[in-house]
Amino acid sequence: MPSQLKRKKSGAILCWVSENKNLKRDPIKDGIKILKNSMSRNLLFHSDNLIAMNYLLQKGFEEKIDLIYIDPPFNSGEKYFHRKKNIENPAFEDVFRGNIKEYLDMIYPRLEVMRKLISVNGSIFIHLDWHVSHYVKVIMDEIFGYENFRNEIIIKRGRRKNLLYQFKSIDRMHVANDSILWYSKSAGTKFRHPLVKNSRASKWMGFWSNVNRPTMQYDLFGFIPERGQWKWSEDRAKMAIQNYKLYLSKFSDIPLDQYWIQTDQNMEFIRKRPGVKYPEYWIPPKTHVILDNLWTDIEGYCYSTGYDTEKHTQLLERIIGQFSSARDLVADFFCGSGTTLVAARKLGRKWIGCDRSSAAIHLTRRRLGDSKFSLIGSKN
Ligand SMILES: C[S@@+](CC[C@H](N)C(=O)[O-])C[C@H]1O[C@@H](n2cnc3c(N)ncnc32)[C@H](O)[C@@H]1O
Repeated sequence: MPSQLKRKKSGAILCWVSENKNLKRDPIKDGIKILKNSMSRNLLFHSDNLIAMNYLLQKGFEEKIDLIYIDPPFNSGEKYFHRKKNIENPAFEDVFRGNIKEYLDMIYPRLEVMRKLISVNGSIFIHLDWHVSHYVKVIMDEIFGYENFRNEIIIKRGRRKNLLYQFKSIDRMHVANDSILWYSKSAGTKFRHPLVKNSRASKWMGFWSNVNRPTMQYDLFGFIPERGQWKWSEDRAKMAIQNYKLYLSKFSDIPLDQYWIQTDQNMEFIRKRPGVKYPEYWIPPKTHVILDNLWTDIEGYCYSTGYDTEKHTQLLERIIGQFSSARDLVADFFCGSGTTLVAARKLGRKWIGCDRSSAAIHLTRRRLGDSKFSLIGSKN
């Protein structure tokens, strides 16, 4: 591959000199086999994921997976362990010798196959951090298309302390976030609003705002503002005044919140209190808010299994719960301790998991307990 960043008519592409002579491998030659068949549609692969994914393609899984979450190595240069009762078992190495080309050689062909496996209305969430997220964004734009990029989700890193306090000067700031790149397979796919529980009581707010709009300066309760504006159009405001009058005259024995719920939750109200300069409009109670891409209300990491890099089930339950539907097929091809599969099972999704580390598969099997799944791999 060429070794410089080239200008293209439709955007930038990332080019690097590949060091990998063996990008495509044949799963049959690689000796993949079913180790335990539970006649279940859930599958757990103990294998390199490129082999597992090519196997799935051969078995008819093209465009069959609705949601993929992956949490691949971040190119951190570190070794990770499964820690249990003061014993450290090696889990996996994120050691690409600091060589970004080697990392890209690893991730590129895997993302290409994932694209083939994702269903037409499906999507993929790639959990990364600053080490490679920008590189992966560029190659994802190439493989999935820039128009299929949906969001970069910012998630808290969790417990790690800001150790930089101990130094007089710093090279850079403490890193407190990971990034999750979300891409869809097709640009036209629409998703439900992602909602999170957040109760907020109803309240009254001033109906005047200081943005000067003469067309919104009309008579309300015998007063016309000379500057600024009322917040809504005249017809809408007068209807809201009538609504509140009706409520006071006939239904004031029940709280306004309850009246609003019983009348289909779409009535608006405006009132004028003696001694208060401006009329007030009513903001209804809320039980949920629509999520944006800044997820600081939940944890990214969890420390329940002793598997370094374990992600929090809260995070996976949110991704799977908000962006897939019941009985959809969810996959994680770098499943580590199995968090994604545990969350998918809880939410009633079918799932496919894969990891090449024995420690990861051992732990995943333990976490899945008596769930039905077939185990596929080249090792026991
Ligand atoms: C960051 S961990 C995933 C942690 C996981 N999300 C969890 O909650 O425990 C990355 C995992 O990818 C696995 N892995 C790395 N390269 C792989 C490959 N080529 N094929 C399959 N698994 C791989 C590692 O063994 C490791 O368990």
